[in-house]
Amino acid sequence: MELFRKKSVDFALEMSKGSQLRRELGAWDLTLLGIGAIIGTGIFVLTGLGSLTAGPALTLSFIIAGLACLFAGLTYAEFASIVPVSGSAYTYSYVTIGEFMAWIIGWDLILEYLLAVSSVSVGWSGYFADLVMGLGIQIPQSLLMTPIEGGIMNLPAFLIVLLITLLVSIGVKESKWVNNLIVALKLLVVVLFILVGFFYVKPDNWTPFMPFGFEGVFQAAAVIFFAFLGFDAVSTAAEETRNPQKDLPKGILWSLAICTILYVVTTMVMTGLVEYKLFAGHEKSPVAFAISVTGQDWLRGLVSVGATVGMLTVMLVMLYGQVRIGYSMSRDGLLPKVFSKVNIKTRTPFINTWIFGLVAACLGGFVSLKELSELVNLGTLAAFVLVSICVMILRKTQPDLPRSFRTPLVPLVPILAILFCGFLMIKLPGTSWMRFLIWLLVGLIIYFVYGYRNSELNKKK
Ligand code: ALA
Repeated sequence: MELFRKKSVDFALEMSKGSQLRRELGAWDLTLLGIGAIIGTGIFVLTGLGSLTAGPALTLSFIIAGLACLFAGLTYAEFASIVPVSGSAYTYSYVTIGEFMAWIIGWDLILEYLLAVSSVSVGWSGYFADLVMGLGIQIPQSLLMTPIEGGIMNLPAFLIVLLITLLVSIGVKESKWVNNLIVALKLLVVVLFILVGFFYVKPDNWTPFMPFGFEGVFQAAAVIFFAFLGFDAVSTAAEETRNPQKDLPKGILWSLAICTILYVVTTMVMTGLVEYKLFAGHEKSPVAFAISVTGQDWLRGLVSVGATVGMLTVMLVMLYGQVRIGYSMSRDGLLPKVFSKVNIKTRTPFINTWIFGLVAACLGGFVSLKELSELVNLGTLAAFVLVSICVMILRKTQPDLPRSFRTPLVPLVPILAILFCGFLMIKLPGTSWMRFLIWLLVGLIIYFVYGYRNSELNKKK
């Protein structure tokens, strides 16, 4: 039964009171943090592959994945409003289902955040290489490909993660400033793409609408789900938020809503500009390709710059989330103490940031995008399913807890979240499942060898 030992909500809150992190973020900052994490490789890169899988019905795939995230986001928001301490779904499950499940979710989240940083770095590297080529600088192929792909390493991917790590490690203020600026540029690019592209749409390109039937739509949905990833990262900033109970739900739901609307309109314009088949061969920069058919070269250039710069904030927020989760797990005794050591000067978990940053950089530099990204969606969907289960359990076991945000229509919304996310999970390939299960097994071993004994709850007895 020790596996089910729980932290009480009060205990979790009390522990976070001693937190040395600075509280300086408001609802608006969190929304920008969310958008910064959400709009990236998914919309700028994966839409190419998605168009080839779903055809013009890619818009439907985005709606399906968006609904899954909306339902999950509503449950996330309730949890975030009860237990506004950093650690996200990891902490939420610690106070509901207990330590063992919390460890599994936390371990899943590491898969999500860390591999998302690496995946986006590889996507970024492709765009970056294109961009500098436009300026007449050719990066040798051997420095853009991993050893398995016949190269030496993906050097731009490796270096960009190091730069992001530096930003995160020197403190939230600097990172927030950079984040807000980049988010503004990213939104500008997406909105301009929609407004200008709209005038060049040829409705003929929308037929046949669903060339590969619903199966194509669903498979594309499981892939482009990646595009929504990041809204949950908002909740990892709880301990740096001035009024977390109110601002976290706002940040999560606003960023998700804004991105979903932009995505749906963007994919409609994209598939209206170009016949879906023509995206073959343009999978690395499909949005830039789509706008190029309008002859508006200035916008094509701007899209490339926006994508390259925009992906920086995705990596920034994802690493930020990863560091905070590692921080919480370490503070609870499930990971070594070095992960929760806060640097006196920067007031950030400095060593933790560099450990995770270096791992992410190496993965980005030496592992292919396909291998990396396959796992991310599965890990995230699994975490969303578990969070939805937790919300329902907590409503039964602790109905009187103050919740400044309540998920509407419980249990319907959590059940819809479970069904949508579960459905997308089964649409992912078996190889990803194998890797996911191996990752879980490694996590179990670490828990039983280290975490179980070193847990703070063990010491409290
Ligand atoms: N949603 C993020 C992206 O698309 C992870 O890059």
